Amino acid sequence: MPGDNAKKALIDSLNGLLADFFTLYLKTKSFHWHVAGPNFRELHLLFDEHATELFTLTDIIAERVRKNGGNTLTSIASIAGKASIKDDDRTKIDAMEMVKSLRDDNAKLVKAIRAVKDAATAAGDNATEGLADDWTDQAEQRVWFLTQTIA
Ligand SMILES: [Fe+2]
Repeated sequence: MPGDNAKKALIDSLNGLLADFFTLYLKTKSFHWHVAGPNFRELHLLFDEHATELFTLTDIIAERVRKNGGNTLTSIASIAGKASIKDDDRTKIDAMEMVKSLRDDNAKLVKAIRAVKDAATAAGDNATEGLADDWTDQAEQRVWFLTQTIA
């Protein structure tokens, strides 16, 4: 049987991932609101699609923590304390810089999801392990769309 340490590591890993999802959600939404330039409509809509995907998974990730017996994030401050993805409060950013920034953040998310999956394996949490594959596919799809937008 996996020990308490493996379970605790999984809970910490899931809460860190949740903080990153919330942070990237708000950053993507901010870029949706502030993007400007000749590709406005396309990027405005793409960023909104990505923000919706990110937000939808927050509930699922938080409830994986609860189903594992842990407490999850409670506030904006708790998100800020655990996120590894950086905020960007600028309102005037070149549109392609926005795309590159979100591409890099989503690539970072792929790595964080892989770490959660490894922690889930160690803790014997099959459900999180299975869900993580879907989270990875979604994140890789966002990386792909953002990358192709730059090319
Ligand atoms: Fe909107």
